[in-house]
Amino acid sequence: MCGIVGYIGDKKACPILINGLLRLEYRGYDSSGIATIEGNLLSCLKDKGRVKNLYDLKGIDDLVGTVGIAHTRWATHGKPSKENSHPHLDNSNHFAVVHNGIIENYHELREFLQKEGVSFLSQTDTEVIPNLIHYYYQKDNHTDELKFLRAVNRACQDLKGSFAIEVICQDYPDSMIVVRKDSPLVIGHGNGENYISSDIPAILSFTKDFYLLNDYEFAVLTRDCVDFYDIHLNKIKKDIKNIEWDAASAEKDGFEDFMLKEIFEQPKSVRETIGSRLTKEDCNFDDLSFSKDYLNSIRHIYIVACGTAMHAGLATKPIFEKFCHIPVTVDIASEFRYRNPIIDEHTLCLYISQSGETADTIAALKLAKSKGARTLAISNVIGSSITREADYSIYTHAGPEIAVASTKAYTSQVVLLSILAIYFAEVLGKQNEELNCLKNDILELAEKVEKTLKNISDIKAFAKKVYKETDMFFLGRGSDYTVALEGSLKLKEISYIHSEAYASGELKHGPIALIENDVTVISILTDPKLVEKSISNIQEVITRGAKTLVITNQALDDKKFDSMITIPNTNPLISPILSVIPLQLLAYYISKEKGLDVDKPRNLAKSVTVE
Ligand code: M6R
Repeated sequence: MCGIVGYIGDKKACPILINGLLRLEYRGYDSSGIATIEGNLLSCLKDKGRVKNLYDLKGIDDLVGTVGIAHTRWATHGKPSKENSHPHLDNSNHFAVVHNGIIENYHELREFLQKEGVSFLSQTDTEVIPNLIHYYYQKDNHTDELKFLRAVNRACQDLKGSFAIEVICQDYPDSMIVVRKDSPLVIGHGNGENYISSDIPAILSFTKDFYLLNDYEFAVLTRDCVDFYDIHLNKIKKDIKNIEWDAASAEKDGFEDFMLKEIFEQPKSVRETIGSRLTKEDCNFDDLSFSKDYLNSIRHIYIVACGTAMHAGLATKPIFEKFCHIPVTVDIASEFRYRNPIIDEHTLCLYISQSGETADTIAALKLAKSKGARTLAISNVIGSSITREADYSIYTHAGPEIAVASTKAYTSQVVLLSILAIYFAEVLGKQNEELNCLKNDILELAEKVEKTLKNISDIKAFAKKVYKETDMFFLGRGSDYTVALEGSLKLKEISYIHSEAYASGELKHGPIALIENDVTVISILTDPKLVEKSISNIQEVITRGAKTLVITNQALDDKKFDSMITIPNTNPLISPILSVIPLQLLAYYISKEKGLDVDKPRNLAKSVTVE
């Protein structure tokens, strides 16, 4: 987690860096800081608190350097405080470092450096890095232009864990070195200037040309060029990747919050994700080159992800199973990676990650690969780490998702996986009328998402009624249960209300004991085959005094419930794409009623790049 930015050019670095940090605040926001070089003077300012506080820091206007690095923190080692904020300097104040990731062996490195006379000012794992660089720098008797790089390279070989690091050195005022291992970092290439960022959207307004680093690749940036080196310091060549996202898509565009904007972008993101993958004539994933023989050899599909992305897997498992007749297990990445799953060459593993940087999901992918399975990444970010690890990658086209709470990425993931399941079924020769109907239903989705978004007044009213609650319940059967899980997660993360999601049929096996007068129960009912049974379950909670909100596409008697939201009818297999929308909006409006920071909920970060 944590966000890092860097700039080297002919403009004052400080405003550019703060601008970048503000866009990366979703990655962490408990403290921030900047270091710049002017002449041979390395200056550093940092403090606890939000990035905007940097504007008020004494001396901030005096940071006139045109080379600088900056950081916004999500604390892992050491509480949020000025001392623990980045950048961190070595004892001689020669080097400044910002770091995203975790140095797992920092204890032993710290002890080693302490024996060498280094004193530490913070409790962070990061502070060993500038001191280790300085240690190797001092030991190097040469004075050539690669001395700085050699020291950074040597220090990195001692680090265990994950890192994206930017380093500046006052002896090399016209360069900056960056390196990554298992943590995100991109290099934006401009005209006479270069940028660093943890993600692409943060610097999209400056450039659309990017270099992507692999693990243990080092980049030396000067104003005019970027040189790349491998771990052995052999020079390597990298191509520029042109990113098509437009800068405006990373702005709020008149919406009060990114989350609301992203909810309302769903017609577009659904449409663009369907794109040319599914048309009336064709379903096309030919870029995957999965032959009929290969798919026939698959005995098991795993869908592995975290949080909302995992819920997208749950929502689409029935489509793979129904049409491809291959058993599917959906697993939480952090569990999958440590439970020795049964995987061989007859296993296909799908990994869903909006950011493509989630540490657990990437580790789970590496595990499956090492056991001989084919791996396919589904990400929203071109060139993200997971797509570079996987055997195959496909992309949702949701555009940048900035709010911590995932919305449009989820619906795009469900769309893309549904089309993928159809494609597999077709390659396997399992076409049938039901499959054709599903294709048509998917093609009508974007319009139905638009319609769903027109109906927000009842959701707002319900949010006003319940925002002071401390507990809520979400119920559903089949696909509706998977949406209940997602609705409950959305509510927890941005409104801080405790909630639980249950399969409606499980209610009487325990949770019903918690239902008493005025408890809020939200039910999703979209599958005509399951409606009767679900209504009986709702009746059971009404009898015990619950306040009920029902989200449905069925013609139900709304007088039975405290509130009812009607959404457009669609194939139950893809109804999560519509039924989740009122739940996203409900979480949003409850959070607003409570006066919370919707886009940056407490303790959370957008991409979880640590375990
Ligand atoms: O970037 P990823 O899709 O890998 O992220 C996975 C989860 O961290 C993410 O979906 C998280 O649960 C969201 N904050 C939920 O809104």
